[in-house]
Amino acid sequence: MFEKLAAQAPDSLLALIGAFRDDPRPEKIDLGVGVYRDAEGRTPVFAAVKAAERRLLETQDSKAYLGPEGNRAFARAVAPVVLGPLAGDERILGVQTPGGTGALRLAAELIAAADRKARVWLGTPSWPNHAPLMKAAGLAIKTYRHLDPATQSICFDEMIAALESAAPGDVVLLHGCCHNPTGADLSPAQWDQVAELLAARKLVPLLDLAYQGLGNGLEEDAAGLRQVLDKVDEALIAYSCDKNFGLYRERVGMLFVRGRSGAEARIAFSNVLTLARTNWSMPPDHGAAAVALILEDDALRADWRRELDAMRARIASVRAELAAADPAFAALGRQKGMFSMLPLSKETIDRLRKEQAIYMAGSGRISVCGLTPGNLPRFVEMVRAALAAEGRP
Ligand code: LMR
Repeated sequence: MFEKLAAQAPDSLLALIGAFRDDPRPEKIDLGVGVYRDAEGRTPVFAAVKAAERRLLETQDSKAYLGPEGNRAFARAVAPVVLGPLAGDERILGVQTPGGTGALRLAAELIAAADRKARVWLGTPSWPNHAPLMKAAGLAIKTYRHLDPATQSICFDEMIAALESAAPGDVVLLHGCCHNPTGADLSPAQWDQVAELLAARKLVPLLDLAYQGLGNGLEEDAAGLRQVLDKVDEALIAYSCDKNFGLYRERVGMLFVRGRSGAEARIAFSNVLTLARTNWSMPPDHGAAAVALILEDDALRADWRRELDAMRARIASVRAELAAADPAFAALGRQKGMFSMLPLSKETIDRLRKEQAIYMAGSGRISVCGLTPGNLPRFVEMVRAALAAEGRP
């Protein structure tokens, strides 16, 4: 049977993890996968997570199954963080998923089950896993340009024109904040315009919020999403705690489904649970249980907020430093979150890796917090030289 299979190339982004690990050069710089690093280049476990894990170790008295919904305390605690005043609305129901990817996959399967003809509109470039995830559920993708590489700004007119040509019932995948890979987010006024258009054309937003707290602030980063929810009837939200709680490998996420009524939301939710059962049956509990403990405990929650605020401040300071270092990086100072894209050719990106041990995604995406006071000057110098060699100022 397996002789019928064609070999698949490894995921190019994830392959960087292994390539970087195996590189013996001490000066190597990792700007690949989206994992936060502090000024010493470490990705520490949050102190609040450690404390919650200790408490779990001492108090958890069973590992019995919880069911396809996962940890209910987690879902109850996360809802207000994401939805603000909309938490508790009977039209919005949430299920725990293995990471944001699990939520996206579940969303895609729910869309396909509801309307196989629905197309998913995606601004490009996007996270490289978005399109494959949607296609894996049998959905067709329609694309429009999110970012103009020449100006490093959002092609908002192209986005509006694309959405005006979408059919009612089509799905629009939007990054809630900290756009991956470009760092170029919609302004509040642009969110408003998009929300109006989604409502007018009866398009269904699929909001991917994987970096809440790493852009402008915890509340601020959910503002666009809430603006959309205020206007539309139906929506899906794929949420991740992997980054803002530093729980990456624990895979902690959530899918929210917003229906036109409580009754419709409950029907959609029953479908979500059935789909979860045929995918992973039940999500892993450990990370979600730790998040629930943190959010329910004032002291742990305050610790978590402090650490998250420090992460955001560090990301902003690296961006400011890059922008001040060279006009070539000016746009990075305006962009938000972990990622930005450098307008480098594929050959240059390969050369920087081979000759300088500077690792970035093949698209030119850099994870900015891979830069530290120790390696930033060399990085700026090498990229400046690479741009000059490409004949760019
Ligand atoms: C990233 O974009 O680097 C992260 O979201 C990790 C991943 O799974 O791609």
